Amino acid sequence: MVAILFADLCGSTALANELGPEGMHRLLTRYFELVDGLVEQCGGTVDKHMGDGVMALFGAPVAYGNDTMRALRAAAAIHQALETLAQENRRPLAAHVGVASGEVVAADTGSAVHRNYTVTGDAVNLAARLLEVAHAGETVISDDVYRACVSSIEVDHVATMAIRGFAQEMAVWKLRSLRVDAAAEHPLLGRDDEVARFEAFLQAVEVAGTGNAWVVRADPGMGKTRLVQEMVVHARRRGFAAHTCAVLDFGVAQGRDAVHALLTGLLAVSPEASAPDRRAALDRAVTSGAVAPEDEPFAADILAVPQRDPAMYEAMDNATRGEGRLRALASVVRHVAAQRPLVIVVEDVHWATPVVLAGVRALIDVARASPLLVVCTSRREGDPFGAPPLDVAVDVCDLRPLATRDALALARSYLTANPSVAAGCVERAQGNPLFLTQLLRSGADGSAIPATIQSVVHSRLDRLSPADKAAVQAAAVIGQRFDLAVLRHVLDDPAYDAGTLLGRDLVRSDDADARKFGFVHALIRDGAYASLLHSHRRTLHSRAAQWYDGRDEALHAKHLDLADDPGAASAYLAAARSEAAALRFDAAQALARRGSALVASPQICYDLAHFEGDLAHDVGDPVRSLAAYERALSHASDEVQRCNAYLGMAAAHRATGATEPGLGVLRQAEPLAAGTALRRESARVAYLRGCLEFARGDARASHAAHTLALEHAREAGDAEGEAHALSGLADVLYAEGRMRSSLAAFEQCLALCDRLGLVRYSLNNRCMLAVVHAYLEPADGAIGVLDRVRALARQLHHRAAEVMADESEGWVRVAQGRYSDAVEPTERSLALAREIGSRRWMVFDHGLLAFVYWHLGRHADAQESVRSAFELMAEVGDRFFGGIAHAARAMMAEREGDLRRVLADGERSLAQGSPAHCHFWYRREAIEALLRVGDCEGAAWQAGALQAFAQAEDVPWVDFQVRRGRALANAGRGDPDVAELVACRERAVELALPGAIPAIDEALIRANAVGTVR
Ligand SMILES: Nc1ncnc2c1ncn2[C@@H]1O[C@H](COP(=O)(O)OP(=O)(O)OP(=O)(O)O)[C@@H](O)[C@H]1O
Ligand SMILES: [Mg+2]
Repeated sequence: MVAILFADLCGSTALANELGPEGMHRLLTRYFELVDGLVEQCGGTVDKHMGDGVMALFGAPVAYGNDTMRALRAAAAIHQALETLAQENRRPLAAHVGVASGEVVAADTGSAVHRNYTVTGDAVNLAARLLEVAHAGETVISDDVYRACVSSIEVDHVATMAIRGFAQEMAVWKLRSLRVDAAAEHPLLGRDDEVARFEAFLQAVEVAGTGNAWVVRADPGMGKTRLVQEMVVHARRRGFAAHTCAVLDFGVAQGRDAVHALLTGLLAVSPEASAPDRRAALDRAVTSGAVAPEDEPFAADILAVPQRDPAMYEAMDNATRGEGRLRALASVVRHVAAQRPLVIVVEDVHWATPVVLAGVRALIDVARASPLLVVCTSRREGDPFGAPPLDVAVDVCDLRPLATRDALALARSYLTANPSVAAGCVERAQGNPLFLTQLLRSGADGSAIPATIQSVVHSRLDRLSPADKAAVQAAAVIGQRFDLAVLRHVLDDPAYDAGTLLGRDLVRSDDADARKFGFVHALIRDGAYASLLHSHRRTLHSRAAQWYDGRDEALHAKHLDLADDPGAASAYLAAARSEAAALRFDAAQALARRGSALVASPQICYDLAHFEGDLAHDVGDPVRSLAAYERALSHASDEVQRCNAYLGMAAAHRATGATEPGLGVLRQAEPLAAGTALRRESARVAYLRGCLEFARGDARASHAAHTLALEHAREAGDAEGEAHALSGLADVLYAEGRMRSSLAAFEQCLALCDRLGLVRYSLNNRCMLAVVHAYLEPADGAIGVLDRVRALARQLHHRAAEVMADESEGWVRVAQGRYSDAVEPTERSLALAREIGSRRWMVFDHGLLAFVYWHLGRHADAQESVRSAFELMAEVGDRFFGGIAHAARAMMAEREGDLRRVLADGERSLAQGSPAHCHFWYRREAIEALLRVGDCEGAAWQAGALQAFAQAEDVPWVDFQVRRGRALANAGRGDPDVAELVACRERAVELALPGAIPAIDEALIRANAVGTVR
C-alpha cells in the first residue's frame, strides 16, 4: 500500500508569460527545491517532475506504516511553503494537491531523471484526477486516504463523483487541517495487551449500555498520550463518538479549563467560536433537552457565555453554582451518550485543579449509568485518583516501559537513525518512548547521547537557527500552547514567521492558518524553559505579562510573578478580584493566596489578606476568613484598616456563633471607627453588635445597636448597610413583640433589597415578613408570600431560606388550627434542617410537629417529637424556640401536677429573654391547658401576662388570644359573657383562625346561647 501525492503550481501559463522564460525557470527551480525538500522531510520520495508538477510516493520504496499521514503532512507543508514563496516573489502563488492510496506496481524503468524506479496503477491515476478537482491552495484526497487518517485530520466532503477511468462513483474529500492530537505519525508499537483490554471495555459498554473510567498511568513520556490516541481510533472505528480534552499546567486563559473545552466539544462549538455562537449552541442544547432549562445558567457559566439574569446567578452561593455546573456537564454528556456510545478522554489529570477534578468525577458518575467510557491519563506523580473527589473504583492501566523489541522497531521507523545509533538510543532510553524518540531526533552519535530529556532538548535547540531557538524558548515562557501574536510580542519581532518552527517536530499547529501552536510534548516545553538563563527568562516573562495586561489578569499576574516583578502581588489582587467578579471563587482564592505569599507593600499585603477574608466569608468558610482577617490586622497600617480587619473578624465570629469573642473584637473596632468618623464602618460595628447581642439574648442592647447602625448607614449614604440595619432592627422588634414596627422595618428593608438587587439576602427577610403579617392580618395571606419565597429559595439553592419558608408555613397552619395542612411543610422543613445541620430550626420543627401530630390523634408521634425537641435543646439551649416545646408539653400534660411542673419550666424558659413567638405560643397553650384542668384564675392570669408582654403595640393575634382566654375563663367560672363570646367567635373567623372556634362554641352551648350563633 502506497500513498501518491501530486502537486501542481496553479496558473503557470500566465506566470510564464509574465516572468519570461528565465524568470519562470528561476521560480520553478526554487519551487521544486522547496517541494522536494518537504517531501523528503516527510519521509517520501520524489518520483518525478512533470512540467510544473511533482509526483511523490510515500511507502515506496520503504514503508514506515504511516505513509498516508506523512503524505498529508507533506501536502500541508507544500501549501505553507508556497505562501512563503509568494511573499518572496511578491505575487500570488499557490499549488493544488491530490493524494490517493492503493496497491501499485513498482517498476524499475530507468527512465526518470531522479530515480530509476516508478510505480503505476489505479491509485496513480486517481491521484492525478484528484489534483484536477483541487482548487488553488487545496488538497483533495480519496476516500481511502480519508479513512486511513480519519482520526488525525479535519476534512470537508467535496462530492461523491464519477471519475474518469473509474467505474464507480467515489467520495472525494478536501483536507481542511491536520489535528494537533493527530495520532503520532509513527505506528503504535507494542501495547497489544492494553489495546486488547480497551477493546474488551468497548465491547462491554456496547453490551451493557454502561461504562466506567479507565486510567492510563505512567511516568512522563512513557506513551500514555500515544496509547489513548490509538484507543480513540479504535473507538471511532467501532462507532463510538470520541472527545478529547487536556488539562494544561500553564498558560490557560481564564475560565477556559478542560471542562470548558469538553463542553464546547460536546456541543459542537469550535474552541474559537465567538460568544454569540456559543450562546446559540447553548440555546440549541436547551431546546434539544441536552441541558435542562433550570441548568442553563450553569452551562452558560462553563461556556463563558454572558448570563441571561446575572443578578439571580450572583445570588446563588458558590457551592450551588459548582454543583449546577457539574449537573449541566453531566446532563450534556448523558444526552450525547444516549445518541451514540461515547468515549471521553481527559488528558493529564495530574495537573487538574479541584474544579476540573470535580468535573472528572461527574463524568465518571455518568459513565456508571450511560454508554460512556471515561479515559484519563495521569502521571504517577500527582495522580489524583484514590483521594476525594476521585476516590472511586476505576480500572487502572499502569504502563510499563516499551519492550526492547518494540523500542527497536520504533527506532527503526525513524528515517534518520542508522542502526548502531538506534541501538545505542534504545539502550539509553530504557523503554521510555519519549526519551527514545527525542534521542533519535537529536541525531547525536551514540557516544554523546545525553541521558536526560533536558539535555536532549538542549541539543536539539542548539541545532536551530538563533531566531528559531529564541522563538522556541519564548514560546516555552508563554506556555504549553501559545498564540502567534503573543509569541511575536514576547520575541519583540512582529514579523516572526512561526511556519519554520513547524516541521521541526518541536511544536505543531492546531489550526489551519497556523496562528495557534502547541509543544509536541510538555517535557519539550519544560526542557526549552529550563534552557533559559534566569535573567533572560525574567525578561521574557515581563514581556508576556505586558501582553496580558488588560487582556487576561490572571496570566498577567502569573507572568509578573515568574518575572520576579515587585508588582506581582498587586496584579494577583487585581486578578483575584476580577475572578471573584466573574463568580469563579475557587480561582479567585487560589490567586489571592499566591499573591499573599509574595513580598509586597503593607498596603497590598493588607488588601490581599482582607480580600481573602471576604472571599472565605462569601463562600461560607468562617474559620479561614477569621485567619485571613487576622492576617490583615497584622498588616494594617492605619486606623481604617485596623477597623476593617476587626469588622471582618467580628463577622467571622458571628458566623461561628462565638458571640463573646465577636463582641470583644467590636470593642476594639468601635473607637477606631468613631475616632476617624468612619460612618460606614461605624454602621457596621453597630450592626454586628446588634446581631451578636441578639444572639446573646439581649434584645434591648440589640435594639439600640441596630438603631444606631441605621442612623450611621443613612448618614453615610450606605444603602446596603441600611438594609442590613433594618433587617436587624426588624428582627429585634419582632422578638419584642412589636409586630407593626417590625413589619414596617421589614418592608423598608425589602424595598432596599429590591432596589439593590440583593435577591439572596432578601429571602429570609421575606419569610419573616410573612410571619409578622400573620400576626397582624388574616393568616392566609402569608401562605402566598411563603410559596414565592420557597420557589426562589429552591432556584437559588438557598437551603436555610427554604427551611424557613417551609417552617413558617407549618407555623401559620398550626396557628390556624389547620393541622393536616401543616404536616407536609413542617416535615419537609425538619428533614432539610437536619440535612444542613441547623439544630435550632429542628427544635422549632419538632415543637410544631408535636402540635400537628397531637391534634391529628397521633399521640405517640407527638410525644416522640417533644422528646426530640428537648434533647436538642439540651445542646443548643431553649431561648429561641423553647417556648414552643414547653407549650407542646403543656398541651399534652394529663394530670394537673404534671401541668404545674411543665408550666414552671416554661416560665423559667421565657424569663431568659425569649423572643415573642415563645411568649405568644406558650401563653396561648398555657391558657388552653389551665382551662382544661378548670383553673380559670390561672388561665386569666396567663392572658394578662400575654397582654403585658405585647403591650407596646397592638397585635390583633395577641388581642384575640387575650380576649378569648378571658372570655373562656369567665365562662368557665360560671360567668359567661355571651356577647363577648360571640364577638370572639366572629373575630376568629375574621382572622382565619378556625382552630380557636370549637372551645368558644362549647362555652356558648354551656351558656345555653346556641341560638345567638349564626
Ligand atoms: N507504543 C508506542 N509506539 C510508538 N511511539 C510511541 C509509543 N509510545 C509513545 N510513543 C511516542 O513517544 C513520545 C512520548 O509519548 P507520549 O506523549 O504518549 O507520552 P506521555 O506518557 O503521554 O507523556 P506525558 O506524561 O509527558 O504526557 C511520543 O512522541 C509518542 O508518539
Ligand atoms: Mg501525554
